Amino acid sequence: MIKSKFIVIEGLEGSGKTSACIYIKKILEEYNIKNIILVRQPGSTPIAEKIRKIIKTFHTEDIIKETELLLIYAARMQLVEKIIKPALKRGDWVISDRHYLSSLAYQGGGLGINKNIINQIQHLLLGDFFPDLTLYLDVKPEIGLKRILKRGALDRIENRSLLFFNKTRNMYLKNIKFNKKIIKINANLNIRNVTINIKQQLLRWLKKQFI
Ligand code: TMP
Repeated sequence: MIKSKFIVIEGLEGSGKTSACIYIKKILEEYNIKNIILVRQPGSTPIAEKIRKIIKTFHTEDIIKETELLLIYAARMQLVEKIIKPALKRGDWVISDRHYLSSLAYQGGGLGINKNIINQIQHLLLGDFFPDLTLYLDVKPEIGLKRILKRGALDRIENRSLLFFNKTRNMYLKNIKFNKKIIKINANLNIRNVTINIKQQLLRWLKKQFI
């Protein structure tokens, strides 16, 4: 038996994160890992889902970038303390659609909040609580946005400029470079090839957990 793990899936809109989370759960179950919880950020507790709504919908009043960051951290704390940490303590596995890297990429890269501020908040609130594995699905913003446009109207964040998403992607790429616990997957490919890559990388990682 492998000790419970916290796995995070990251990437821009249209990178295929949500399907990847479901697919990863299936692969883990085939590997005889039974109790797996799927969560999304912001969200996955009643209060965090309310915050998600504030973040994703349009308002008559502008949300300033620091408020956006703090709202996301409020939702994150609620989820980590209420769901993720207790689950890991019980021995369950947790797969999260997004986590801290999203804040560095969107609020840091996209909105231009100083990275030190985000890191300080992260450290202050979550200390050394980090995922065991992060799969970053790298997609060019043009390709990702084309995919989400097929789903319907864009929300408050999806509606941001291509420049915003390019800056967000660049920040992702900058931050994953020297972190051995983050694996980059090319999500510009068709879904079949992306899922093959996810499976290969995940199985390779799982095998290492037994050593
Ligand atoms: P999604 O679940 O469809 O990806 O929606 C979540 C949105 O919230 C997405 O547009 C990215 C945004 N977000 C941030 O800007 N910063 C964060 O730290 C997180 C977790 C999400």
